[in-house]
Amino acid sequence: MTRCSIAILTAAGVLFAQSTPYPRVVPGDRNPAGGVAQFGGAGQSSYARPDLGEPFETWRDRMSKQRPAVDAAAMKILNSRYDLTCRPDPAAKMSRGKALAVGPVAHLPRGAGSWEAFARLDPAAIRQAGTFPYTPLDHPLHSTAHMLFPRFWTALHPEHERFDVGFDIPDCFLPENPPAMYLTTHPEMGDVSGGVEITYDNYFDKFNGILTPEQMEGLRLMVTPFPTTWFNTTHHRVTAAPSNGVTCFSCHVNGHTNGAIELAPDSRPNYGRLRMDTPTLRGNYSFLLFSSKRAIRTLEHFAEVEEYFDGDTTLLAAIGGRNLQKAQTNRMGDINSILDFPPAPKLDVMNRLIPAKATAAELRGEKIFLGKGQCGACHPPVQHFTDNTMHDLRVERFYAGRPEGPVKTFSLRGIKDTPPYYHDGRLLTLEDAVNFFDIILATGLTAEEKKDLVAYLRAL
Ligand code: HEC
Ligand code: HEC
Repeated sequence: MTRCSIAILTAAGVLFAQSTPYPRVVPGDRNPAGGVAQFGGAGQSSYARPDLGEPFETWRDRMSKQRPAVDAAAMKILNSRYDLTCRPDPAAKMSRGKALAVGPVAHLPRGAGSWEAFARLDPAAIRQAGTFPYTPLDHPLHSTAHMLFPRFWTALHPEHERFDVGFDIPDCFLPENPPAMYLTTHPEMGDVSGGVEITYDNYFDKFNGILTPEQMEGLRLMVTPFPTTWFNTTHHRVTAAPSNGVTCFSCHVNGHTNGAIELAPDSRPNYGRLRMDTPTLRGNYSFLLFSSKRAIRTLEHFAEVEEYFDGDTTLLAAIGGRNLQKAQTNRMGDINSILDFPPAPKLDVMNRLIPAKATAAELRGEKIFLGKGQCGACHPPVQHFTDNTMHDLRVERFYAGRPEGPVKTFSLRGIKDTPPYYHDGRLLTLEDAVNFFDIILATGLTAEEKKDLVAYLRAL
């Protein structure tokens, strides 16, 4: 990594590491070696431009030609960090039966001996040695960025295939498709998806008699395609044919997630935005904060701001707007807030394990979760495993790069259904998530304790 950091001692005596200024980047530029986290400060502009600066055909041909190299570079990075061999555990299943991939898949840093020994090293020493295995993941084409759909998804939805970049993380480490859909209003019905993807074509017949008229209208809007920054009918696009756009359920399929990625909409320039793995919408009724970094307080507001995702108000006029009225985003909030968590038959009403139903390993795991592992402090069971606030885990203690700042505590309820983990999906398995938190919290868990913790997380 090329990095020239200047240490600044402020009047208060606090030491900041100033990052290399952002390079001048235009959409389509390939990712910088060493990742975007090496840069910080101000970019050239807060605004995108609706013109490509070249004819669409030139843009499309140039990007299509470049794509194999872009995809190969992203895979090279993943392979250097992880063992991507798919090891499904037939005994551990997501709600509709996909087997969970077993980890940890991150490569154990050379010379560490064991994960437990590595976790005991001083953060500064790890940073100095450049051996932290869980550094940020970039979007495979961070300059253009925007929505990028998994391979299983573009196989089903070729209209979402981009000519400039493909998805990096293999399907093995992603959620099942189509996922189940549970409603707070109809627990007796269980999975209401019927094992199919809910779309504009089938939503009405499936949900007539189940939803209220308001929820129906909200659902209709959530399965209606609308133009977005790079999926639209203009030349400002990354699909070969003009695009109808995407629907909320193109990423939040059946109100859950297919693992599609975007960049967090909270900052500029694009190199300053974090890669975001689509969170599930299940259990949204119980959360007080929405989005990883924007702390949006209502689902209605969220439906409104999700409009273009990149949130570029200046692009709206050029690519076509949805112009949803407040009453409509309220309706989207109405459907959003009845999407329930998947069943967790081993949990009681306090979200604690029922001893008669749990295994010995799960019970030991719960004890570690609430005790030595410290997880319960931020993921309290009765609050659906989130404290409804944001925390700065200060992971940059372990690597040279721009700090990521506070992030929302995502819920752990139904966590087995939402790999990969962490805002950018850098933790491909639950085993990696447990490794990660053991390192950053310095909890000193043993290999046995970590196994128990994973057994517990699978039961939530
Ligand atoms: C790229 C595919 C994509 C599409 C399409 C999409 N979302 Fe999202 N959604 C995301 C990502 C990524 C996040 C995380 C954003 C963040 O953390 O800032 C998110 C976050 C959310 C959240 C907050 C979840 C939480 O736990 O904090 C809600 C609510 C939501 N989306 C609703 C919607 C609605 C409503 C639509 C349609 C108008 C929509 N989304 C369309 C990817 C998508
Ligand atoms: C200081 C508060 C805090 C503690 C303690 C904590 N977490 Fe978290 N956890 C968070 C935050 C904040 C996030 C979201 C971070 C991000 O995505 O950048 C998170 C995310 C996660 C995720 C990923 C969720 C997802 O949807 O991707 C898992 C899994 C997780 N935590 C497990 C644990 C376990 C296991 C422990 C204990 C060993 C633990 N956490 C301890 C705050 C905490």
